[in-house]
Amino acid sequence: MAQIIGIIGGSGFYKPDNDSQKKTINTPFGDATVHLTQLGNKDVAFITRHGVKHSIPPHLVNYRANIYALHHLGVSRIISTSAVGSIIKEIPPGSFVIPDQFIDFTIGRPKTFFDGKFDITLHSGEKRSGVIHIDLTNPYCPDIGNVIATAGKELKMDIHEKGVYVCTEGPRFETPAEINSFRILGGTLVGMTSVSECILARELGMCYSTISIVTNLAAGMQDKISVSDFLKTFDGKIVELRKLVEKVLEQVTFVSDKCDC
Ligand code: HPA
Repeated sequence: MAQIIGIIGGSGFYKPDNDSQKKTINTPFGDATVHLTQLGNKDVAFITRHGVKHSIPPHLVNYRANIYALHHLGVSRIISTSAVGSIIKEIPPGSFVIPDQFIDFTIGRPKTFFDGKFDITLHSGEKRSGVIHIDLTNPYCPDIGNVIATAGKELKMDIHEKGVYVCTEGPRFETPAEINSFRILGGTLVGMTSVSECILARELGMCYSTISIVTNLAAGMQDKISVSDFLKTFDGKIVELRKLVEKVLEQVTFVSDKCDC
């Protein structure tokens, strides 16, 4: 099978810059749209999480179809981008963070392939079905995380190498009381997406890491959360983000014996 890296572009990162071939992949969970292209010397399968017109809200993204489609194309490692709010003031808007842990507060979305209805065949030929419990001691791939951290340092970016990503169901933002409780639990970031992808990728034996961009301080840490401020912060960071993704793609390998994802 061809070696290919999966990219999932989050809010504000909608398409590869260069020419790409658009493909619809039919999966047992629905269709996924993938753009096949080359970035940073690698073949890449790019998925736009919220659609190119940002029409799919976080709780309605078809995470299973997206992750299954990447697996079907031969992807073994996925790098995503995700906009987040910061729960601690030491990580201000505009910062980049590589989460290493998560806490999941999503409630309504399907987030397993193994609900008894599907048999999955992995790249290795191994068949998985029935009751599966995956190990998430290191939910985000530590090896890809190191590559991102190194690339960020080379680009002289403000990048935090660890963080606890708290995932909420959305699409609403949180209340200050929720944010205070997340802080007590040890959360550093709050977002609505990455965790579902992380879990599903691991269920199919794929490495997954995300580059989180802090677009705002979380609820209660400023007067109000304004989507226009959030987008302004994001727009100011998109060039840096694209440079980082490209450098990571140059340096990342297709598989690594440094992780057991
Ligand atoms: N909360 C949840 N998701 C987010 C936020 C937030 O404050 N900012 C960007 N994505």
